[in-house]
Amino acid sequence: MELKIALLSGDGIGPEVTQQAVKVLDAIAEKHGHTFTFTKADVGAIAIEKTGNPLPNETLEICKNSDAILFGAIGDPKYDNNPDNAIRPEQGLLKLRKNLGLFANIRPLTTYPTLIHKSNLKKDVIKGTDFVIYRELTSGIYFGEHTSSSDGKTASDSCTYTTEQIDRISHLAFKAAQVRRKKLTLVDKANALETSRLWRKRVTEIGQQYPDIKLEYLFVDNAAMQLILKPTQFDVILTENLFGDILSDEASVIAGSIGLLASASIGEKTALFEPIHGSYPDAKGKNIANPLASVLSAAMLLDYFSLHDEAEDIRIAVEKSIELNISTPDLNSTNHFSTTNVGNFLSDFILDDE
Ligand code: NAI
Ligand code: MG
Repeated sequence: MELKIALLSGDGIGPEVTQQAVKVLDAIAEKHGHTFTFTKADVGAIAIEKTGNPLPNETLEICKNSDAILFGAIGDPKYDNNPDNAIRPEQGLLKLRKNLGLFANIRPLTTYPTLIHKSNLKKDVIKGTDFVIYRELTSGIYFGEHTSSSDGKTASDSCTYTTEQIDRISHLAFKAAQVRRKKLTLVDKANALETSRLWRKRVTEIGQQYPDIKLEYLFVDNAAMQLILKPTQFDVILTENLFGDILSDEASVIAGSIGLLASASIGEKTALFEPIHGSYPDAKGKNIANPLASVLSAAMLLDYFSLHDEAEDIRIAVEKSIELNISTPDLNSTNHFSTTNVGNFLSDFILDDE
C-alpha cells in the first residue's frame, strides 16, 4: 500500500517522539512491502515563529493532500505565561480539527501487566482494564457562543448539538464495540441538560441498528467515579466534547504514564494521529521523553487503513520493550533508556521478527 503522510511534529518533545514513530513506520514499510512517504509541515509555536500563523495555509494544504496526518505536540511556555497573547500555538490544532472536520477523537486505554504497579491506583482495581473513549471533537460547548457582559459580571458559553453530529460519531462507536466486547456506555447528563437528552434519544434509536451491542447509560458524575472504582466494566465509552475531555485525562492515570497514551481523530475525509500528551517543554532536546504514545498513534494510523497485522507488529514490539524494561525514565527510573534507544529497539525488533 502507498500512503502519503503529513508529518506535523510541532514543538517541545514533538519532533523527538514523532521521529521514533517515523522510524517504526519505516520498519513496517520495509517488512511488509509498503511505501509510506512523509511530508513535513510546521504547526504551533514553530509555525508562529516562522510565519506568524499557528496553522499556515501551506500546512493545511499539505494535510488536505495527504492520506493521514501524524502529529507531535504543540505548545511553548512563552505563550502560556502570557494569557493575553492573541495568537497561541494551540490554535493550530483547534483550527486543524475544525478545518478537516475531525469529529471523532478516539482514545484507547489498556494496562500492561508489567506496568500496573506504576499507577497510583490499586493493582487489583486496574488489572485487565481495556476500554476506548469516543469523544465528539468539533461541537458542543467549546464551539458554542461565548459571551461576557460589558460590566464584567456575567458570562455565558452555549452548548449545541445536532442529530447529525451525534449520529456520525455514534455509528463509529457502535461499530468499534462490535469488534470488541460488544458493550457501549453513553456518558451524559440527561437529568439536567437538553443536549444530553438529545444524545440519549438518538443513541438509543441508533442502538436498535446494533442489537448485538449492550447499551448502557451513565451520568457523567457517576462515570467519573466508576472509572476509578471499577475501570474494567467499560468497553466503549461514547460521550460529548467537554465530558470526553475531562474523563480521558482522568482515565490516563490508570495506564501509569501519559507517555503511553495514543489517539486518533477521525473525519469524513482524513484522520489525524497524535499522542494525548503535550509538548513537555522541560524535556525538550533531552532525549528522555517516552515515544510510545507517538508510536502507538502510528499503530492506530495503520489500523485506520486496515493494516491490522502491521499495527499488531507495532503493539507486540511495544509490549516487548515494556516487558524488557527498555523504557524512558517515566517508566524506568533506575536504568533508563533514551527516546532514540527505545525507537531503535522497536524498529530493530520489527525487522528482526521477519
Ligand atoms: P504535557 O503533557 O506536555 O506534560 C505534562 C507532564 O506529563 C510532564 O511534566 C511529564 O511529566 C509528563 N509527560 C508528558 N509527555 C510525556 C512523555 N512523552 N514522556 C514522559 N512523560 C511525559 O502537558 P503540560 O505541561 O500541561 O503542557 C505543556 C504544553 O503542551 C502547553 O503549552 C500545553 O498547552 C501544550 N499541550 C499540547 C497538547 C497537544 O499538542 N495536543 C495537549 C496538552 C498540552
Ligand atoms: Mg484536555
